[in-house]
Amino acid sequence: MAARILVAYATKYGSTAGIAGAIAKELAGAGLDATAVDLMSVGSLEGYDGVVLGAPVYMGRPLDLAPFVARHADALSRVPVAAFAVGLAPVSPKAGQLEQVRTALSGAVAPLVPVATAIFPGALDPSRMGLADRAVVRLIGAPTGDHRDWEAVAAWARELVSRLSA
Ligand SMILES: Cc1cc2nc3c(=O)[nH]c(=O)nc-3n(C[C@H](O)[C@H](O)[C@H](O)COP(=O)(O)O)c2cc1C
Repeated sequence: MAARILVAYATKYGSTAGIAGAIAKELAGAGLDATAVDLMSVGSLEGYDGVVLGAPVYMGRPLDLAPFVARHADALSRVPVAAFAVGLAPVSPKAGQLEQVRTALSGAVAPLVPVATAIFPGALDPSRMGLADRAVVRLIGAPTGDHRDWEAVAAWARELVSRLSA
């Protein structure tokens, strides 16, 4: 039977959801039984053989990831876990340092040690944002537009196939 993989993601404006969907699609294409689900609607991790966690970075922190890891600590400690963060640090130092994002991602999933991690460029569309977020974006001068690198996402997902179903 194909390994069941959950791609659990957080998202505020949808760009991380798109990346999570692309990862699930690639894993499914490789023969795994993979689904992407907003982590807010994940009740139990029972029955999953591996988990991919993903979250956008806001003000230096991966959104909603640490509480999810704490809530499901037991189940997550028994399966291979991969983790990715989405942000604009990969395309602009104005949005933060890549090394800080890496450290924040490790911190959010600790004490888990992921079988793989990645940081992907995200997307910023001020016309869809609330006033406060728009003000922050203007203040730091973060680059707007869709910077998602679908080939990099697919390549990482292909790397996960053997690591999640080993
Ligand atoms: C208010 C605000 C703060 C942000 N802070 C960071 C940050 O600290 N580091 C980073 O790399 N990207 C940062 N970003 C960029 C987001 O992570 C990026 O737009 C991401 O693709 C959003 O994902 P979502 O559409 O799934 O919510 C920020 C964006 C906003 C609007």
